[in-house]
Amino acid sequence: MKLSQKEKDRLKKKYGEWALVTGASSGIGKELAYRVAEAGLHLIITGRHEDKLTAIRQEIQSLYGVNVEMVVAD
Ligand SMILES: NC(=O)c1ccc[n+]([C@@H]2O[C@H](COP(=O)([O-])OP(=O)(O)OC[C@H]3O[C@@H](n4cnc5c(N)ncnc54)[C@H](OP(=O)(O)O)[C@@H]3O)[C@@H](O)[C@H]2O)c1
Repeated sequence: MKLSQKEKDRLKKKYGEWALVTGASSGIGKELAYRVAEAGLHLIITGRHEDKLTAIRQEIQSLYGVNVEMVVAD
């Protein structure tokens, strides 16, 4: 799903420069992470599986050029 420019602007205005997305290694959290990055926000993504988070971080950075920090924790 692609976001409209209006929706990207709304997300940035509402949430600021950085977003924390928990459970970002799969499912709803993963999809949310991509959409928020598409809007231009930098991300902190969390989950237990470092390999999955690393792959997602690399893809998001490459697609959207935002900063992505990871927190691997149970
Ligand atoms: N899918 C639906 O239609 C739906 C509908 C209503 C409600 N929900 C609820 O929404 C939530 C997410 O659903 P989903 O389908 O996206 O699930 P999912 O694909 O299993 O994703 C769960 C996420 O949470 C992380 N996670 C799970 N246990 C964790 C723990 N102990 N510590 C840190 N991270 C943990 C997982 O990462 P790691 O495995 O890497 O830790 C993963 O990134 C669930 O609570 C679900 O019950 C889902």
